[in-house]
Amino acid sequence: RKVLVLHGPNLNLLGVREPQHYGAQTLAAINEKLVQLGKASGVAVEAFQSNREYELIERIHATLADGTDFIVINPAAFTHSSVALRDALAGVNKPFVEVHLSNVHAREAFRHHSFFSDLAVGVICGLGAKGYEYALAYAIDFPVPAAP
Ligand code: DQA
Repeated sequence: RKVLVLHGPNLNLLGVREPQHYGAQTLAAINEKLVQLGKASGVAVEAFQSNREYELIERIHATLADGTDFIVINPAAFTHSSVALRDALAGVNKPFVEVHLSNVHAREAFRHHSFFSDLAVGVICGLGAKGYEYALAYAIDFPVPAAP
């Protein structure tokens, strides 16, 4: 089993960036916890962050060949803008959960629309870094697709 955790632009700044919205934990600390939780359940967790749409798209395409069976993604600002990232997820056809640290619905109107939510298995927002842990717990319990 393998779960890929994808983080979009500016999430490398967690810990420094607008802590009132995004909390005090660094991305490294969040990822470390997710890897540990995966290990405890025998699931490989790989995390990848990029500020570039292109790199996120390429990483999603690579899931076709790297054994990833579930994706947890916080597309960050690309949530509200990226048809290309949406199409990449639709193209590889892997189940995914969309995560946001902040409650995007309690913020500016431009954050209320997501290009991902209708394709996602589910969406978690407003629960801070815990949201990633809940998404991973769900991914760990998600039935493994039958071998072809
Ligand atoms: C975010 C919410 C987005 O609106 C914002 O652009 C982000 C982070 C969140 O985790 O709350 O960069 O996805």
